[in-house]
Amino acid sequence: MKILITGSNGLLGQKLVYSLRLNKDIETIATARGENRLTIKDQYIYHVLDLTNKDEVTKAIHQFKPDCIIHTAAMTNVDACEREPAECELQNIETVKNLLAACKGSNCHFIFLSTDFVFDGTSGPYQETDIPNPLSVYAKSKLAAEHLVTDSGLPWSILRTIIIYVVTDDVQRSNVVLWTKNSLEQGKDITVITDQLRGPTLAEDLAEACIQTALRKAQGIFHISGEETMPIIEVSNRVADFFGLDKKYIHPISTAELNQPAARPLKTGFIIDKAKRELGYAPHTLEEGLAIVKRQLEEKKKL
Ligand SMILES: NC(=O)c1ccc[n+]([C@@H]2O[C@H](COP(=O)([O-])OP(=O)(O)OC[C@H]3O[C@@H](n4cnc5c(N)ncnc54)[C@H](OP(=O)(O)O)[C@@H]3O)[C@@H](O)[C@H]2O)c1
Repeated sequence: MKILITGSNGLLGQKLVYSLRLNKDIETIATARGENRLTIKDQYIYHVLDLTNKDEVTKAIHQFKPDCIIHTAAMTNVDACEREPAECELQNIETVKNLLAACKGSNCHFIFLSTDFVFDGTSGPYQETDIPNPLSVYAKSKLAAEHLVTDSGLPWSILRTIIIYVVTDDVQRSNVVLWTKNSLEQGKDITVITDQLRGPTLAEDLAEACIQTALRKAQGIFHISGEETMPIIEVSNRVADFFGLDKKYIHPISTAELNQPAARPLKTGFIIDKAKRELGYAPHTLEEGLAIVKRQLEEKKKL
């Protein structure tokens, strides 16, 4: 089976490549803009691919003829999308059009990564059958892309997920867990939102869900997140407790006080029963995930 990953330098993309390269039955094609930023570069093919370039996309899909595409690439900075809606449309919608057009007439299984932000946050935790109502430019772009995928005529899956935490090769990329840990270690004050509830997701769990979706050829929408939904400030508090760090640097702030450019849904979180049933999804608890993060950080230090 040949699987092509888009956005292989991203948080999820990296984990997917590292996991798939070890599977002898899968030929992995990692694609991203510019150079390959992964430390390990063997046992997979790397191909430079800017998804906004329709010709490049068509050429790559015709060259590799993947049985499955896991499309993780996106413009993921929600406030940047709000400020630059045209760029957001290009990165989050046009790229999907280019990929789907290149696959047209094939039987390629298209797996699309989407977000809890397609919901308005008034009645989470959400299940797959709940009706989306996106609040921001980013969220609207992801929902528009979902519709392109469902109307594509290809076998498709949509995996919606929620704040991903992870240790990656790319030290520039942060996430709520590493941001909290690093800030508290350096004695830096942080303000963390009290009234937005999320189900934090370990990147390894999400990567495994993507791979199971591909291997089982499971189609439809799947909600993939950690099992527990909690205020974002609780994530930071639990990070502090786990790593034995001082919580005095964590300061609460409400969504209204923070006043970010893009509107966020207040309470999301997912009901993940369908993924458990159909994909064998079994996510780690937050503390189990933090233990994995800790181990990975220790291993990185040894390198
Ligand atoms: N992270 C979260 O908490 C979260 C939550 C909900 C849903 N999601 C969804 O999950 C998916 C994966 O998220 P992530 O956190 O792994 O994202 P990420 O770390 O921001 O990675 C996205 C990758 O997409 C690449 N990319 C953007 N435009 C591209 C283009 N035109 N051509 C090729 N590559 C392009 C970026 O390349 P560069 O590195 O070169 O910029 C980046 O490496 C996304 O679809 C996102 O919408 C994420």
